[in-house]
Amino acid sequence: MNLNDAVRSELARLEQTKTFKKETIIESEQGAIVRVAGKDVVMLASNNYLGLASDSRIKQAAIRGVRDYGYGVSSVRFLCGTLTVHRQLEETIAAFLGVDDAILFSSCFAANEGFFAAIINEKIGAESYRDVIYSDRLNHASIIDGTRLCRAEVVDKKIYEHADASDLRSKLESDRDVPYRFGFVATDGVFSMEGDMAPLPALIEISRKYDRILFVDDSHAVGVIGATGRGTPEQLGVHGTVDVLSGTLGKALGGAAGGYIAGNKDLIAYLRQKSRPYTFSNSLPPSIAVAAIEAFKILEEDPSLVERLRHNTAYFRKYIQQLGFTILQGEHPIVPIMLGDASTAMDMSDALLAEGVYIKGLWYPVVPKGEARLRAQISAAFDEVTLNRVLTAFEKVGKRLKVI
Ligand SMILES: Cc1ncc(COP(=O)(O)O)c(C=O)c1O
Repeated sequence: MNLNDAVRSELARLEQTKTFKKETIIESEQGAIVRVAGKDVVMLASNNYLGLASDSRIKQAAIRGVRDYGYGVSSVRFLCGTLTVHRQLEETIAAFLGVDDAILFSSCFAANEGFFAAIINEKIGAESYRDVIYSDRLNHASIIDGTRLCRAEVVDKKIYEHADASDLRSKLESDRDVPYRFGFVATDGVFSMEGDMAPLPALIEISRKYDRILFVDDSHAVGVIGATGRGTPEQLGVHGTVDVLSGTLGKALGGAAGGYIAGNKDLIAYLRQKSRPYTFSNSLPPSIAVAAIEAFKILEEDPSLVERLRHNTAYFRKYIQQLGFTILQGEHPIVPIMLGDASTAMDMSDALLAEGVYIKGLWYPVVPKGEARLRAQISAAFDEVTLNRVLTAFEKVGKRLKVI
């Protein structure tokens, strides 16, 4: 079989099934308004929840990082790649999340890939063993890949229904007498397709009852939800009580790159020894470390950004429904606007771009058949003028395409 022929035919299939991911070139910095094909449009599709991607304080911090520590360290952490600011950022993250310690990765994808295998593939605590992972059906690809890296002969993987604590409970109950070494419950804090939250209080209660370790990827929540932006645990009243948290620095917290795992200090110390994407991969650029420390400082000192994000989200959710659009209910700045069939979602996103609004559609197989949608993502960087511009464009295009 010729590889080029095979990939060409797969690319053609992706085009045909309308699942080919097209990249639109942005000609400006990320922000409320970006330039596309020479035209200024409102960015309604980024994870730049706090608008920090182009915030002057963050840019200045990144420049300080380059000035004081150079461009890179040319090393993994344990050889000669640990700078003052790496430890400072890890301590900042841990304090913000109310846990002992944190460990940095080049991305949250790498963090999630590096977590499960570092424990499950190792003979620690028992010479012969079997572990188990219970994973939410809609978990992010990085959690799924993280579990795939665990050797099949030492782990059972079980999927529970999305955000369904009673399904999880019944699966744990049926496994009650299985002598697993370690058991994990793994979930996103906020799910990116729906903007909904994992039922953390119930998951904590169940995990404790059945002696499982709760792992929550809070990438779409830290800096986004909770009274002070501390994420899904704060939003749901269980701050500081999740066993292990992972997250990204590539969304609300500046939007560049980087990820972390946060939790108990012994576990974090262990991951430094055994987590392969940490141990054998270059450390985070100092520009990112210094800018991320600044992002946390802004969050600590100035609650107005998170408040503005909350206000903008509530405003958009209210008025988009008043126009007659159907959205998935919730409080998160991810606002799925339900359209039904894929062609409507495609037409709407093209027409909205022509009207100056950049938004992406999602359709089968990314979401279930008949549930095609546009996914709006609100930012604290928007003002009311920008939000109204978006709503006006939605009204115009929605009426023209007979969606409202
Ligand atoms: C829930 C979740 N986890 C992890 C990631 C990956 O984060 P990063 O971009 O830092 O690799 C994403 C990004 O899409 C995400 O949505």
